Amino acid sequence: MVSPKYHIFVCGSSRINGTQMGSCLNRKAVGLVQKFMQEIEDRDISSDCLVTNTGCFGICDKGPIAVIYPEGVWYGNLDDDKVEEICEKHLAGGTPVEEYRI
Ligand code: FES
Repeated sequence: MVSPKYHIFVCGSSRINGTQMGSCLNRKAVGLVQKFMQEIEDRDISSDCLVTNTGCFGICDKGPIAVIYPEGVWYGNLDDDKVEEICEKHLAGGTPVEEYRI
């Protein structure tokens, strides 16, 4: 993969100095990284997608957060069901899920 079609950044709660803020982490963000990876694999679109665990986006009260490029779509209040729908409609289908955007 030279350049993925979609780059999915999932908040892992760490601050710029490396300490963890905790908000998204406490809401099971690590599990959501795995959920994204599994749903992407299930749809056989792994070659189009890169999932990255990243630092705090600064909007912790709306967490867990994921941001997807190239569109720059920010999703909040994520859970397993929302991640599944985002993978189906956005990553596989090409249409962002408006109701989960923040
Ligand atoms: S900890 Fe996720 S946005 Fe701050």
